[in-house]
Amino acid sequence: MNTYPFLLVLHLYAAFVFVGTVTFEVLFLEPVQKRLPADVRRALGGQLGPRVRAVVPWAVAVLYLAGLGMAWQYRGALASPGSSSFGLLLSIKIALAASVLVHVVTAMTLARRQRLHSALRRRVHISVFCHMVGIVLLAKAMFHLSW
Ligand code: HEM
Repeated sequence: MNTYPFLLVLHLYAAFVFVGTVTFEVLFLEPVQKRLPADVRRALGGQLGPRVRAVVPWAVAVLYLAGLGMAWQYRGALASPGSSSFGLLLSIKIALAASVLVHVVTAMTLARRQRLHSALRRRVHISVFCHMVGIVLLAKAMFHLSW
């Protein structure tokens, strides 16, 4: 049985949960939160935080595992990224995704140690958001751009 379409659908569903969460945080939640009274902000954070931590790690796990499963089928192109535009663009996409994972693990570690201050959290969110814009663009460009 060809598992590729199944992995692709899982990858897409997980991507919209993860990308959607980060997009919502950067474009809507953070700008609005700044205008809320401190107690409302604390209450919102207290309710949202656990919900995000309960859902997003699963989406991230599915996203990366399905991505790895699909990438395995392109291992030839990935072994020599310089030989094809597809191999190069997919390699950059994977490198950006690895960097996103480093951001997530670092942020979670800092949060657990109570050292993820709001300014730093905002910077991490914006950086992850910019990575995702690049990842989604590369995910499509790798099939449509060639040189
Ligand atoms: C933040 C992490 C990631 C995001 C947001 C993301 C997002 C996406 C999106 C939106 C697509 C386009 C699917 C389509 O429209 O057909 C895609 C395709 C793909 N991704 Fe990812 N991805 C991520 C991580 C990874 C990782 C870690 C790998 C591999 C190690 C990977 C491998 C692939 C492959 C091989 C495709 C091509 C699938 C196809 O269309 O045939 N991705 N990704």
